[in-house]
Amino acid sequence: MKPNLHHLIVCSGAVATRLYAAVLVGLALMTTSAQSQTEPAIPHLKKHGTATQLIVDGQPFLARAAELNNSSASSLEYMKLLWPRLTATHINTVLATVSWELIEPQEGKFDFKLVDGLLKEARANDLHLVILWFGSWKNGKSTYQPLWVKTDQTRFPLIQNEQGKSLPTMSALSDANRHADAAAFASFMRHLREVDGSRHTVLMIQVENEVGVLDTPRDFSPAANRAFNGPVPKELMDYLQAHKDVLIPQLRQAWETNGFKTSGTWEEVFGKSTVNKDDWKAYSYFTEEIFMAWNYARYIGHIAAAGKMEYNIPMYVNTWLKQQNYGLPGMYPSGGPLPQVMDIWRAGAPAIDILSPDIYAPNFTDWCDWFTQSGNPLFIPEARADARGVANAFWAFGKHDAIGYSPFGIDRTAGADTELARAYDVISQIAPLILAHQGDGTMTSALLDNGGVSQTVRLGNYNLEARFSSRSFGGVSNTPPDRVAGLFISNGLDDYIIVARGMNVYFTAATNPSDSVGLTTVEEGVYADGKWIPGRRLNGDETPEWKAVRFRSDAYTI
Ligand code: DGJ
Repeated sequence: MKPNLHHLIVCSGAVATRLYAAVLVGLALMTTSAQSQTEPAIPHLKKHGTATQLIVDGQPFLARAAELNNSSASSLEYMKLLWPRLTATHINTVLATVSWELIEPQEGKFDFKLVDGLLKEARANDLHLVILWFGSWKNGKSTYQPLWVKTDQTRFPLIQNEQGKSLPTMSALSDANRHADAAAFASFMRHLREVDGSRHTVLMIQVENEVGVLDTPRDFSPAANRAFNGPVPKELMDYLQAHKDVLIPQLRQAWETNGFKTSGTWEEVFGKSTVNKDDWKAYSYFTEEIFMAWNYARYIGHIAAAGKMEYNIPMYVNTWLKQQNYGLPGMYPSGGPLPQVMDIWRAGAPAIDILSPDIYAPNFTDWCDWFTQSGNPLFIPEARADARGVANAFWAFGKHDAIGYSPFGIDRTAGADTELARAYDVISQIAPLILAHQGDGTMTSALLDNGGVSQTVRLGNYNLEARFSSRSFGGVSNTPPDRVAGLFISNGLDDYIIVARGMNVYFTAATNPSDSVGLTTVEEGVYADGKWIPGRRLNGDETPEWKAVRFRSDAYTI
């Protein structure tokens, strides 16, 4: 199949009469602020209006990312064939694993050859990296700790279930576990500062992977039982009181139901759990989940802080989400940074900058809403790469000012002739505009399902109604995707830039509904090196009723 031409559609013109308000050419207004003298040169996060941006070399950065399979980065030889496929996918950031077992095969003896090779190849391919630190935990279990840790369970204890059986998960309540992981991570971060402190190939670190205990709602080891039956730590009680009015509702409710106590055991403060496996909505084991969240947050917060002491770049944790029908903590990792315990994580792990969702679930927009509560920036380290996933990416960037989007398992799907490559190509063209408009209320998005209802968003003086359309204009495919997105930027009065697929976007007046609205000038084209290159001038069937812009269903166009 022939690769797409990625047309950009810019609605353009000027208000002709009161009856013909419209949209004016939005050319590349790609100003980015110069780095101030006082800003740290290393990658860092910075507020931009209501958004949080990742700043790299003084400029805001939009991560068109993808995550490798878990084992890929353990072999530079394996990676050789992959790099060109990654760049062909228009990816600018690769999420790659660095594991504890491979960098510290013997206690205190470090080997960073693999890390150095990864950096060298990423640079040669003009790619950035986000490093996933696979230390104590990966998907709720412990398989990446070195053998000297794995085989000494007296020194490095595992969790136990209620029956006293050890499970293959390092206990978050063990000082020895925490110190050993932190020491390894700090050594890695020290090395990273030495080899990358002036190059900035590595942008962020994911600390551990999808943590939380599985198959039991909490750790029942003797140390965990003692802590669970002891008082809620004062630091947590102080945090809850200081943030009482802005706590996530579920947590606040559990605390309120039990009388907003300012001290007491976990069960006294948050309640004794009831189990009702027949009714998933009757929330059970919440106290156990809160308890585990605190202990994971303290452990991982300690590791992140130790790493930041060496090299202070942004750090995040990723989350295995609670699936529908798997409602109890322990069926999903109990204590992971899910929205209902977000405040516990904030209190316990201030060195963690972002709590990230891995979103494979169908209710993508819900998860984005839940994870952007309390000002948490959105970075999605795992997601889908297909047409549906790509639509979700546009939504995350347009609606939630996402720092980045990263489909998982890119080894399988990378390539130029893919949904992801075509979408990332278009996103790369308008990334400077997206970044310039983040956090100032001039950008939004619509997400439409085939057969679903239309969506109306207000932007500036107009309402934009997006209606699903399967018309392909004879492009690469006549099968419309089941989900499409539009990203809308208001670039000034009567001036809009739109990226969309498979929809007609109708303009109506937002302030006075009796005003008629018409378009004046509509162009499609491409941005090349930030410069607008107009293509077709659209009219007639391409601008239905002269009130709408029609976007083809086979590709995203701007
Ligand atoms: C989620 C994990 O975080 C990833 O590392 C990977 O194992 C995927 N699941 C597999 O689908």
